[in-house]
Amino acid sequence: MIKFPVRFLWGAATSAYQVEGDNVFADWWHWEKSSGQKEVSGSASQHYRYFEEDFNSAKLLHHTCHRLSIEWSRVEPYENQFSAKEIAHYIDVITALRERNIQPIVTLHHFTNPEWLSRLGGWEHTSARNYFSRYVEKIVEALCDKVRYWIPVNEPMVYVYHAYVAGIWPPQKKSLRVSQAVAGNLLDAHDQAYKLIHEIYRKKDLPAPLVGTAHHMQAFAACRPTLRNKLGVYLRDSLFNLGFVKKLCRMRSLDFIGVNYYTRGLVETRGWGIRNLLLDFCRQQHSRLDKNDLGWDIYPQGIYESLLKLRKFKLPVFITENGICTHDDAQRWEFIASHLKCVAAAMEKGVDVQGYIYWSLLDNYEWDKGFGPRFGLIHVDYRSGKRTIRESARKFAMVCQTGEL
Ligand code: FCB
Repeated sequence: MIKFPVRFLWGAATSAYQVEGDNVFADWWHWEKSSGQKEVSGSASQHYRYFEEDFNSAKLLHHTCHRLSIEWSRVEPYENQFSAKEIAHYIDVITALRERNIQPIVTLHHFTNPEWLSRLGGWEHTSARNYFSRYVEKIVEALCDKVRYWIPVNEPMVYVYHAYVAGIWPPQKKSLRVSQAVAGNLLDAHDQAYKLIHEIYRKKDLPAPLVGTAHHMQAFAACRPTLRNKLGVYLRDSLFNLGFVKKLCRMRSLDFIGVNYYTRGLVETRGWGIRNLLLDFCRQQHSRLDKNDLGWDIYPQGIYESLLKLRKFKLPVFITENGICTHDDAQRWEFIASHLKCVAAAMEKGVDVQGYIYWSLLDNYEWDKGFGPRFGLIHVDYRSGKRTIRESARKFAMVCQTGEL
């Protein structure tokens, strides 16, 4: 039996755009339609309306923390016009968590931008950092007495990769030069937010906040052990997995590292060009591992490997996302249990993991993949909005309650 520490945080995550519904001022809302996506987010999981019911379920399932995001485009639908009504909504949301004794972990940017910011060129320009800081200040001022954990930017490298390298998310650019600029701006945005949040808490004499990142890590492996594939693995590991965290540590802008881990990528490069080295994967189904419904390899060992790579930074770590989309709920529980075992093994080796947050509390809108993939501990009937707690959620609840696996 594995025993996790008493103070270990247990919970699940969501992001505003994926669950709330009707985020009409977001760039994604417009892009879904203009790019002809098969499924648009619409009313999503209707969490904007049912958040209290959803938090009742989280409570019932013994969650002690909940990771959620604030939708910037709701709060600031037009440049410098903040919506008091929407800020009040988020105060209600956070209060609802507090009333249930669930620690909120708040993300300020989870992939979507206000449409007005996109029209100004989004994160390509340094001005985005200042717009972001102004929004961060408003939110942190409103919520600081109820929130201790903040994550300024979710998965900066995933955002850069999808939107500016692979060019499959808005604004669909494919430019390594622009992607470098965007990554730099997100890095600085985090750094500015880190300082700002700490300063607000200091001024108000509140206990120091904990500001971290939710960083995506993938286990990369060479499909065939060629020199070129090994170089591809090395470059992805240093640029994608470790680069951002390294820089934030150097800037002293991290109180904790959040890890989002899902899968392993088999690297099979088709040339020596930088795009080949960074982007090519095996297309021939050489992997024999079990898959989730999106065809991603299930490789629990990868969470262990990722955590050990972070040990040298000597910071507390949270698993801020880990999950599986599957129609086989028994597979979901196996996924959770096998990954938790690997987290425990990393803790044995000295990694200071302080919490595990499953992705996701609810079935939701999986970006360009639509509503097909079901990651939730709770099933959502998108027509009626009805929620049904899955068996895997109840098994996970036992771990949350007892700290034992
Ligand atoms: C992560 C994202 C999250 C969700 C999961 C499946 O990369 O942060 O929004 O889409 O993947």
